[in-house]
Parts: sequence; C-alpha cells; structure tokens
Amino acid sequence: MITRAIAVAALLAAAACSAQAGGYRAERFGDSIAGINATAGLRAFQRDHAREIRGTFNASNCAECHALPAIGGSQTLRADFVIKQDGPGGAVTFDRYAVTNDVARFRYPQGRYYLRKPPSLYGIGLLEAVPAAELQSIADEQARKTPAHRGRLAVLGHGVVGRFGWKADIPTLPAFVATAFAIELGVHRPGDVMPVTHFLRGLAPPPASAPRDVSDGRRLFAGIGCADCHRPSLRIGKFEAQPALNGAAIDAYTDLLLHDMGQSNAELPEGAASATEFRTPPLWGVGKAAPYMHDGRARTLSEAIAMHAGQAADSAARFRSLTHAERAALVEFLRSL
Ligand code: HEC
Ligand code: HEC
Repeated sequence: MITRAIAVAALLAAAACSAQAGGYRAERFGDSIAGINATAGLRAFQRDHAREIRGTFNASNCAECHALPAIGGSQTLRADFVIKQDGPGGAVTFDRYAVTNDVARFRYPQGRYYLRKPPSLYGIGLLEAVPAAELQSIADEQARKTPAHRGRLAVLGHGVVGRFGWKADIPTLPAFVATAFAIELGVHRPGDVMPVTHFLRGLAPPPASAPRDVSDGRRLFAGIGCADCHRPSLRIGKFEAQPALNGAAIDAYTDLLLHDMGQSNAELPEGAASATEFRTPPLWGVGKAAPYMHDGRARTLSEAIAMHAGQAADSAARFRSLTHAERAALVEFLRSL
C-alpha cells in the first residue's frame, strides 16, 4: 500500500512538474494540449466550405493558409492575404476571388496594397488566457525600466483589449474565427465558429526542441533588449479548456503589446494600432515559421532582426555589433524556442 501511494504521489508530482516546465507543449506540430479532444473542431477547420461561399473570398477552408509545418501553422507567401485602404481612415482586406453566377474568378487588387503573412496558430488559446491586467503590468514595467521599449495595450472600443492579428485589432478567438470565416472564406453565417474556436483553444504550442545548451544565446537575447518585448514568460489566468493549466507560466516570448516599428515597416493603421505599430509576435516555434515579419519580407531570422526599426532599432544595432559567434549563438537560441 505504502509503495503504491508513494508511486502515485511521485506520478502526480511529475505531472505537475511537467505542466510547470512546459508540459503543455506539443509532441508534434499540430497536436492538441494533453487532455483536450478537438477532433470535431479540427475537421471543421479543414472542411471545404465552397458551397456556403457568398461574394468574395480567399480560400475555401482555414487549413489552406494555416498548414505549415502541420495543421494550425502558417503558409508560404502564396497564401499571404492583401490589405488595402479604399478610403481615408480604415484598412480593408481584399479578397482574391469573387463568386458570380456560381463561378469563382480571380481578381487583382487595384491601387496601393500590402501583404500580410498568416501567423502560426499554435498555443493561441494560452495567449487568449493571459489576463489584460497582466499585459497592463508589463506595459507599466516597461515604462519604468526600459522606456525605450515601452509597449501599449491595443485598447479598442469600450475598453476591450485587442490581442490577435499583427495589429492586435481583434480581442477574442471566437471574434477572430467569425471574422476569418467572413473575410477569408466568404462564409457569413458559419455554423462552425464554436468547434473551430474549441480546436484553436486546444492547439498546443510548438514542440520544445531537444534540450541543448543555448545559454549564451539566451543571455545575449536579454542583454541586447530583445526580451523586453519578446517576454520569456507570461502568466495565464483561468484556462477553461484544460483547468490543470490554470495560472501556468507560458514561454511564448511576446508581450502582446503594440510597439512602434518605424517607417521602414509602416503599413496601414488598424484597430488601435497606427501605421507603424505592430503587436510583438510570439517566438515559440519561430525556427519553423519562415518567412518572417508581418509581410514575410525576411527570409531568415537574421534578416528579421535587421528589419527591427523604430523602438527596436537599438536592439537591431546591438545585434549588428555582436561578433559573428555571438550572432550565431543568438540565432541558435531562437531556433530552440
Ligand atoms: C487566405 C489565407 C487565410 C485563410 C484562408 C485563413 N487565414 Fe487566418 N490568418 C491569415 C492571415 C494573413 C492572418 C493575419 C491577419 C492580420 O494580422 O491581419 C491570419 C490570422 C489568423 C488568426 C490570428 C492569429 C494571431 O496570432 O493573432 C486566427 C485565429 C486565424 N487566422 C484563424 C483562421 C481561421 C479559423 C480560418 C478559417 C475560418 C482562417 N484563419 C483562414 C490568413 C488566412
Ligand atoms: C520594441 C519591441 C521589440 C524589440 C526590442 C524586439 N522585437 Fe522582435 N518584434 C517586435 C515586433 C513588434 C515584431 C513584428 C514586426 C513586424 O512584423 O513588422 C517583431 C518581430 C520579430 C521576429 C519575426 C517573428 C515572426 O513571426 O515573423 C523575430 C524573429 C524577432 N522579432 C526577434 C527579435 C530579436 C532577436 C530581438 C533582439 C535583437 C528583437 N526581436 C527585439 C518587437 C520587438
């Protein structure tokens, strides 16, 4: 009896410990978080909605743009969607195909437009579970300790905080999923919003890479200010999809705040973000997410770092002044996330 009780206690301790140390990570890209069954949602994410499409659209299922290196991920540039401004004030997405008389035809955008890359969706439910108060306290800490890298909450109407999309203009996953159905798929009364939301909430963060010593790169990442915005640890609140993770610390390497990235990255204003502001993207799994930046202009991690301007120009300059070996160590660290 005693040995059995001890064995059970040891198992429980190991389980608690692995949740602390990143047990919520996938074994393989596209896995659900342990204990979450999202098979129906996965099917809805991949389902071809061609028959429900009305008007303009970009694709007939979500997976067309979120599939690399596995379901829920990103895509190569051919899936970038187009964003443009039709009149002063607002950004609109341009849909590549239009259905007339049941025939879908490709359309070319007119006027000035910009490309946006599909972000990987791994771990996005955990990002949704970070309380806005935690984000505010990070912004306050940045203002006190690293004012050059101070971010701000994307406060939308009625005090609601945006956190999804490159411009953090959407506050919650159901809201994003409904918008994606309407804009990307041209499906305006989708029945699949809740199953797809459930699938995304349970989608595990990318697999942790094999343990290796990246301590030099980690030290440099903090030392040249990358970690001020790409925060190594965020504390989530309640996580209803898997209560065992309530209050867990996640290593997403983002602050979910808006930062001014300078004129060289400027695009359109959207939500609370100005033309030059973007939400810090998470870096977990970044080694497998090329190309980089909101428009996929950077082919490599070094190119992505070099493109940091505005508030992050100092970090990019400090990266440039590192030795060759130090730069390699930092990139190796990024690949380990
Ligand atoms: C044509 C390509 C395309 C299709 C199809 C598509 N997406 Fe996306 N998705 C994108 C792009 C591009 C972005 C970034 C949008 C932005 O920031 O403005 C994005 C962003 C997202 C985000 C926010 C990610 C983040 O990190 O904040 C979610 C959630 C999402 N998509 C879910 C879906 C769902 C659900 C579907 C199907 C209903 C879908 N997408 C279909 C291209 C696509
Ligand atoms: C002031 C905040 C800030 C600092 C400091 C900062 N970043 Fe970023 N980082 C961002 C934002 C915002 C973006 C997205 C910009 C865009 O897409 O145009 C980004 C994008 C990236 C990307 C591309 C991610 C992707 O999915 O495309 C990488 C890689 C990256 N940063 C690494 C670093 C490294 C390494 C450092 C230190 C040398 C650093 N960042 C410093 C805010 C920052």
